[in-house]
Amino acid sequence: MTNNYVSIYFIYPNKSQIKVIASVGDNLLEAAHKYGIKIKANCGGKCSCTTCHVYVEESYFVQISELYDIEDKELDKLETNSAIEYNSRLSCQITVTKSMHNMKVYISDDSYGEHEH
Ligand code: FES
Repeated sequence: MTNNYVSIYFIYPNKSQIKVIASVGDNLLEAAHKYGIKIKANCGGKCSCTTCHVYVEESYFVQISELYDIEDKELDKLETNSAIEYNSRLSCQITVTKSMHNMKVYISDDSYGEHEH
């Protein structure tokens, strides 16, 4: 595997998981969609909905939050989602980096499925 790819595990609400080889620079939503993983994205990745909501594995959550401050816009949106937890993020707003190798991303119940057009 070259340096431009990392393994990321997406965990479905039913706890089954799929390993994805994600390109550094893609966002998590794009990485999932390339593998046909159904995470909704009603606004098309523009941080205007919360349908791409995921939970990030705790140790990585801390690390990526230190690397990139969560943007106010994302936080404001997340706070409108009743399923928010301390490790909630919007998958369209997280850029894949090398430090995310083997990270687990949990798809929330409400984010799993086909998005609405
Ligand atoms: S796809 Fe709408 S906020 Fe991520």
